[in-house]
Amino acid sequence: MQHDAIAVVDFGGQYAHLIATKVRRLHVLAEIRQPEDPIEAFLPYKGIILSGSPSFSSFGEDSGYTKALYDLDVPIVGFCFGHQELAKHYGGTVVHGGREWGPADLHIVGDSPLFKGLGPVERVWMSHFDSVTSVGPDFEEVGYSTLGDAGTPHRFAAIGSNRLRRWGFQYHPEVDNTVHGTEMMANFVLGVCRCQPSWTMERYVEERIEQVRAQVGSQSVFLLASGGVDSTVAARVLGMAIGPERLHLLHVDNGMMRKGESQGVIEMFRQFGLGQNLHFVDATDTFLGALEGAVEPEHKRRIIGDTFISVFESEARRLGIEGHLLGQGTIYPDTIETGGTKRSDTIKTHHNRVPVIERMIEQGRVVEPLADLYKVEVRELGETLGIAHDLIWRHPFPGPGLGVRLLCSTGAASRDGFDETEPAVAAVAARYGVAAMALPIKSVGVKADLRSYEHPVLISGEASWDGLLEMAGSIFREAPGINRCVWNLGATHPSQVQPLAGTMTRARLDLLREADHIVMEGLRRHNLYESIWQCPTVLVPMSVDGVGREFVIVRPIHSERAMTATPAELPATLLAELRRQILALPGVSGLALDITTKPPGTIEWE
Ligand code: XMP
Repeated sequence: MQHDAIAVVDFGGQYAHLIATKVRRLHVLAEIRQPEDPIEAFLPYKGIILSGSPSFSSFGEDSGYTKALYDLDVPIVGFCFGHQELAKHYGGTVVHGGREWGPADLHIVGDSPLFKGLGPVERVWMSHFDSVTSVGPDFEEVGYSTLGDAGTPHRFAAIGSNRLRRWGFQYHPEVDNTVHGTEMMANFVLGVCRCQPSWTMERYVEERIEQVRAQVGSQSVFLLASGGVDSTVAARVLGMAIGPERLHLLHVDNGMMRKGESQGVIEMFRQFGLGQNLHFVDATDTFLGALEGAVEPEHKRRIIGDTFISVFESEARRLGIEGHLLGQGTIYPDTIETGGTKRSDTIKTHHNRVPVIERMIEQGRVVEPLADLYKVEVRELGETLGIAHDLIWRHPFPGPGLGVRLLCSTGAASRDGFDETEPAVAAVAARYGVAAMALPIKSVGVKADLRSYEHPVLISGEASWDGLLEMAGSIFREAPGINRCVWNLGATHPSQVQPLAGTMTRARLDLLREADHIVMEGLRRHNLYESIWQCPTVLVPMSVDGVGREFVIVRPIHSERAMTATPAELPATLLAELRRQILALPGVSGLALDITTKPPGTIEWE
């Protein structure tokens, strides 16, 4: 059966693949195309979407893409970098400046078929450094944006030429935080491009199974099965494709699992009918030995990824199954955040994308049946395959486990740029009547498709939830070098904090396991486990006013695809319980709630 299809030109933005996913959810086939593909590659499509990018349109960083696509007689819409490129191509100007990230209001002032059925003001999601400042003769401004309390209009947030059938959005309609983004994309795909919605998930599964069979042939697969949603669904798909006899599962306890996790996972796979080739290894000593002294986040990640492979290989040798292909439950964000599409920036190296695995992929020795799906699609697939609800709706847990939630440090304070950062933070704090301090430690974040490694701000004081989020937004806009805000749950605002040396030790991991267990139990007790998408608990080696060694941060978030996230509010009773239980743990110096959106933070701290 032939399907109508949309081409998504992947300029390397964090959300390029998300655009394709969103189109497929409209039951229309979307395919990723590289910008330098020959023009013939674009001919089969009924419409073209230009993605965002970590490159700067203002500096001409377009690497010479196939501009002849603008000559095709099909509708084209550009998002973010794609919007800027489109504007430039038709005679507009783009400058480096006018950055926005986070939620903004789009004020619709022109007539565009892409805004059919929408209100005059729409909540949209921004993440950019460059801006369009004028448009060419055929184009008009269709919308401008205002951001939070700042209120200054950002011009040309939406542009278009209905005659040429070309449009551009500075914001990202593909992310869930753009409230009516799906409607805008449907107006393009189904309305303007007139695609027939004939593409379904069932069709996707059939194709995946065929692909796995073609790749595996008569070989067998050895799957690293953490027991999370992804590896569980991957195990089911592989089992369907090649049968349980040729599928071996390996569950590795890397010493960074949650409390009681490994026992639960083994039990689950047994109940699941996959017990016959299920292998378990406690590799805690191997992992902690390899991680000794490591503090830098990417270094930790590479060690964890490499150690997974060496454990996998030595288990395969021990079991006499060295020739097997490596199976992984990799999903799309793992690939894109590792810089795994041609032009994207490395935000963090996921454990299943370290160089040794990349080499195995090149040799065709890795099978990843879910590699182009997002979590929400994996869950949908799991449900289609009849996997139990409770398993599918477990919180996502990263492969490196608590390893990315236990911050490590040499103990040296990091205050670079604080001369500018501190007065800006103080100015926002004064405006909102709270106390705030930039912390001399760093964590990983993502800003305008680029990795950031910057400081958090600790806020103390009374405020409504909306007030806190607004305050965090102001800090991100006004204070350079900040990628997170956390709200202090301790009794007083610290007058001084001191980073301490801390590495990946069993004692620290045990403390984090306890704190994490308290948080998870709290969410379950308050019936919040399912409505909150994920809730990392993080340990930072830092004393507060000379007391304690470990500062605990709780990060409840709402998300759908993990590419963006908003902080989740917890009830005051739960916060009081967490305060009482966590602050009583030995060595804990303080407790705070992370109130950062993604971007500019990431979900994990690293
Ligand atoms: P970030 O921190 O990048 O996380 O916002 C996005 C989602 O990915 C999970 N995550 C990982 N999952 N291997 C995984 O399987 C990894 O190395 C990894 N790192 C982050 C994270 O928990 C969140 O759900």
